[in-house]
Formats: sequence, structure tokens, C-alpha cells
Amino acid sequence: MKVVHTIQELRDHLQGQTRVAFVPTMGNLHEGHLALMRLARQHGDPVVASIFVNPLQFGPNEDFNQYPRTLQQDIDKLEAARDVYVLFAPSEKEMYPEPQSFRIDTPKGLGDILEGECRPGFFEGVSTVVMKLFSCVQPRVAVFGKKDYQQLMVVRSMCRQFQLPVEVMAHETVREESGLALSSRNRYLSEQEKAKAPQLYACLQAVRAQIQAGCTDVAQIEHDAAQRLALEGWDVDYLTLRRQRDLLTPESDEIKAGEALVALGAAKLGSTRLIDNLEI
Ligand code: PAJ
Repeated sequence: MKVVHTIQELRDHLQGQTRVAFVPTMGNLHEGHLALMRLARQHGDPVVASIFVNPLQFGPNEDFNQYPRTLQQDIDKLEAARDVYVLFAPSEKEMYPEPQSFRIDTPKGLGDILEGECRPGFFEGVSTVVMKLFSCVQPRVAVFGKKDYQQLMVVRSMCRQFQLPVEVMAHETVREESGLALSSRNRYLSEQEKAKAPQLYACLQAVRAQIQAGCTDVAQIEHDAAQRLALEGWDVDYLTLRRQRDLLTPESDEIKAGEALVALGAAKLGSTRLIDNLEI
């Protein structure tokens, strides 16, 4: 695997390639990330991965400084898995040589709800860096995880509206046996918190069970689920049932008619904020 730190080196290595499959990450790689690279391998060649902790997508009181930076371990994992041909690991100066004053705005109703509401500017930061990374890598295919469900929808929507020649593919969420979704942020959890963390997914499963049992009272379902987490000591940002197609709240008759749904949750255990979702 080639490890490159500059856009020039990246372009030199990819010259003439038209079937690049790309997996952007912020590093501290785990099995979820590696699964994305395996999927990329099946849909393109060469596979390019990036590791860049993007300052633009962190709020002033978020964990940008704390975010785990483990480049050498990440390289070792990628070398062992043998799916990636070029790893692009730029410095902040390389990605932002001047202040990024052109930015991607995100659509009202998609970029400013749920994660976008809790983390103002988050999706603008993600969209802007993804656009820049796409411009550097020029992939034909890009792979994202369903773990970040709304992010996947924002990126898809951006590609559609800007008519980017990139096919966005989604990988299912990779979980521990306990149900806990793998995340770089899990390493912030204390032993005790780690033991509680699977409750978030269990709660989403309870939402699914209620729907499958024929319940269509969305407010009640959401209230029960949030209550359950709060009683266990979580600080809940949202626990909600939405339509898969646009993340809006479904009407009762839509649920009865079999509308594709997704339960999404974000909640803090101590100072660690976890997100997860489950398609229904
Ligand atoms: P990061 O959190 O490192 O995630 C990189 C990719 O891995 C994302 O597409 C994410 O959805 C996926 N992923 C993370 N955990 C996963 C899991 N347990 N199962 C499946 N996929 C998983 O998301 C970002 O970085 C950044 O916002 C980025 C897109 C790189 C822009 O900076």
C-alpha cells in the first residue's frame, strides 16, 4: 500500500485510473471501516482510502482535539487487510491551505434536522470535505456506512444535485456481539459505560418491535423509547422514527401501508455521544 500525504502524490499515483473506489474516514480504523474497504474492492479498482480528521465538521465544544489519531496502527491494519492500494492521509495544511470560505450549504429539512440540529454546521463541514476529497481522488464509486445514516443521505443528495459522476454505495452497520455499533468514539467509554452502551441499539430494536406489533402512534413510541434510555441514565438528544426516503415523520396510515421506516437515536453516556439507527 502506498501512503501519500499530498494531493500531488495522490494524483501521480492515480493518473489514468477511471474505476477508483474510495472510502473516506477519519481514521482510528475498526472492523466497520475495514468492511467498507472490502466492499469498495468488489466495486472498483484501485481502492483509495483517506484518513483526515476534518476540523470543519467539529463544533467549538466538540472532540476535535481529543479525537483519536492512530495513523501507524491504521496503516498496519490496512496493510494486513490488503484491500487498499493508496492511503491518502493529508495534513490540515494540505487540505486547507487557506481558510475554507467556499462551503457546501446543505438542504433545509435534511441538513438541519437530527444530527444537523444537534451539531450546527456539521453537515456543511462533512459535505465540504467530501466534495474536496472527491475532487482530489476523482472516484467512480464511494462507500459510506449506514451507521451514519443521515450523513449517507446528505452525501447522496449532494452528489445528485451537483451531478457528480460518483456512485455512492452503502454498507450495513458493523456491530459488536452486544449490538453496540463499532465507532471510534467507543474508546471514550469507561468500563461501566461500555456495558451500558448496547442499550441504545436495544432501544431501537424495541421501536421496531412496537411497529411490527402494529403500533402506529409515533409520539408514543418515541416517548417510550427515550424514557427507557433516560431512566438508564442516558442524556437523550433524539430517539425518533422517520421515513427512510426523507427522514420526515411518518403518518399513521403510511405506517399501516408499509412505508419504509428507520429508527434513529443519539444520546450521551457521560460525556460520550453515541449515534445509531435501525431500518424497519
Ligand atoms: P468516520 O466516522 O471515520 O467514518 C468513516 C466511514 O465509516 C463512514 O462512512 C461511516 O459511516 C463508516 N462507519 C463508521 N462506523 C461504522 C460501522 N460500525 N459500520 C459500518 N460503517 C461504519 O464519517 C466520517 O468518518 C466523516 O464524517 C467523513 C465521511 C470521513 C468526512 O470527514
